[in-house]
Amino acid sequence: MARAQWFETVAIAQQRAKKRLPKSAYSSLISASEKGITVSDNVESFSELGFAPHVVGASAKRDLATTVMGQDISFPVVISPTGVQAVDPEGEVAVARAAAARGTAMGLSSFASKPMEDVIAVNPQVFFQVYWLGGRDAIAERVERARAAGAVGLIATTDWSFSHGRDWGSPTIPEKMDLPTMLRMMPEALARPGWLWRFGKTLHPPNLRVPNQGKSGEPGPPFFSAYGEWMGTPPPTWDDIAWLRELWGGPFMLKGVMRVDDAKRAVDAGVSAISVSNHGGNNLDGTPAAIRALPAIADAVGDQVEVLLDGGIRRGSDVVKSLALGARAVMIGRAYLWGLAAAGQAGVENVLDILRGGIDSALMGLGCSSVHDLTPEHIVIPEGFTRLLGVPASERPGP
Ligand SMILES: Cc1cc2nc3c(=O)[nH]c(=O)nc-3n(C[C@H](O)[C@H](O)[C@H](O)COP(=O)(O)O)c2cc1C
Repeated sequence: MARAQWFETVAIAQQRAKKRLPKSAYSSLISASEKGITVSDNVESFSELGFAPHVVGASAKRDLATTVMGQDISFPVVISPTGVQAVDPEGEVAVARAAAARGTAMGLSSFASKPMEDVIAVNPQVFFQVYWLGGRDAIAERVERARAAGAVGLIATTDWSFSHGRDWGSPTIPEKMDLPTMLRMMPEALARPGWLWRFGKTLHPPNLRVPNQGKSGEPGPPFFSAYGEWMGTPPPTWDDIAWLRELWGGPFMLKGVMRVDDAKRAVDAGVSAISVSNHGGNNLDGTPAAIRALPAIADAVGDQVEVLLDGGIRRGSDVVKSLALGARAVMIGRAYLWGLAAAGQAGVENVLDILRGGIDSALMGLGCSSVHDLTPEHIVIPEGFTRLLGVPASERPGP
């Protein structure tokens, strides 16, 4: 990327995204729900954690590599699945290329704008993400398509409660990109000529269909028809999760775990990984930050399954804090979406480089030679920071 376009923090990527995208497209990336209590806590809680650095004794070389769900990754940051990448003409393909260029894996959303086959073609380290949409037969068909396409893992996301409304307003997402819609949206798009030109060059408007909800080679249903079907599908039981894990047979993550009792049930259902997550504050507002729930969950099941965290990661130091509190790796959402919106593939690479650099710098300051050496002793945890969700009162430490 040209030096002038390079950005030095994720906050600057967000500012660029805001400047570059039409208002409704930017708003769809901000997302979150209700009053935004959870999304704020996800980000702000990291500022409550401090570091205990050494003055002498830093290691000359730091090892950032690890594995997640059987995949070697060059640093402990994975792309979390998100469904709004149609803000960029190359969308998920650009993100997958960036992840491959930086040596990491990617979760690909069921609501992605690009077919899984095209995404896996540019990055073989793809975990396909499913929602509980359409019942067992329909889900089995989707999972078999992912297997045939070469997905190396499955992510089941079940933390969704169809909350309505945000105090700052929701974007109007059109049903389809026909001529009347394009004319209606034109004033917004004309205010962002750079973005309009990027799409104009491709001669295709943003894709509002979800190709991975249909059959391979077909365009897939429109976003809202898939969303409606999802709302109408009875939510899954733990037996359904065990069934899906068994059907897939390979590396399997349950994403959205916030309680210790749920983490234990996920282990019983046979998952190989969980992500401690509240869907980036897009689900039940008032849920505490994922990082607050992490230590108790990692303590309870960290020796049986891989424990990841997602929610609020904006800096390499946030990654290091998460690892110190028990995560094996983290997943990121908005950070790379802002990079994508700011500068396409190069913007996502830029965000990944910021995180890698921040992890390396924090390790150096802490005198650690490897991400595997991080422990709670490296950070300052204020009293009352953590939350014990799903732990009976009788098993909690005294007051
Ligand atoms: C715009 C947007 C769309 C998302 N779409 C999905 C999705 O399709 N599937 C999914 O499992 N999670 C989805 N997520 C949640 C992310 O995978 C992740 O849990 C969250 O973004 C992490 O928080 P962060 O954005 O603060 O990094 C979405 C998040 C955002 C912001």
